[in-house]
Amino acid sequence: MQKPVHVGIIMDGNGRWAKQRGLVRTQGHLEGLAAAKRIVKAASDIGIKYLTLYVFSTENWKRTAEEVGFIMGLIKQYLRAEFDFSKKNKIRVRHAGDITALPKDIQKEIIDTIKDTADFEGLQVVLAINYGGRDEIIRAVRKFAAANGDMEKISEKDICAYLDNPDIPDPDLIIRSAGEYRTSNFLLWEGAYSEFYISKKFWPDWDKEDLEAAVEDFMTRDRRFGSVANQE
Ligand code: IPE
Ligand code: IPE
Ligand code: MG
Repeated sequence: MQKPVHVGIIMDGNGRWAKQRGLVRTQGHLEGLAAAKRIVKAASDIGIKYLTLYVFSTENWKRTAEEVGFIMGLIKQYLRAEFDFSKKNKIRVRHAGDITALPKDIQKEIIDTIKDTADFEGLQVVLAINYGGRDEIIRAVRKFAAANGDMEKISEKDICAYLDNPDIPDPDLIIRSAGEYRTSNFLLWEGAYSEFYISKKFWPDWDKEDLEAAVEDFMTRDRRFGSVANQE
């Protein structure tokens, strides 16, 4: 099989990585950011077209104000600091999720980064920040209702058209680090036929070889989409 066009990653295990080393959780997030940078470069080198990174879920607000504040700070720092890297590697940055509920300064950084990288034609990195699959579907339905009024005939195609990034194909492969077998509200609609790859490794330990292993595993899968394999 071909390599995946769109890969989504649930970057989990930052806290456990830190705990294992007797460090505070925020240290895990710092190392998680370094891993994210490695994996963006690796995805670009491998020739993946779209990479969606689950950065912060609609449920992650339940964490302490200190942890949430630290993660928001890292997002801001990352968006600011990575422009030269994005320019050099032609990386286009996009966003998925409800931007309106994010702190104003983060909203501005996201909007500016999207604008500044809009013409880059290499890897597209979708940052899922304040993202929830259920929330995305609800917002899509509301946008459809506002534009069309009549809900009676709403179709799959209509919902697809109002998702956060309607031009991006569904993820072929969804990776989760740190061993948990759940979606945690990631790409619920788009992931209907995604292949899943779960790795025990905590996110801060991820490197290019781990992404390559996931891609190689994906290439051995038999995707049937509800049909029958090898139909004559
Ligand atoms: C993922 O790591 C990062 C975010 C969810 C923001 P965690 O912080 O969830 O790490 P664990 O699951 O507690 O180890
Ligand atoms: C999912 O990880 C969210 C992100 C990676 C951003 P969580 O750590 O929040 O998921 P649960 O709580 O283990 O389901
Ligand atoms: Mg977690």
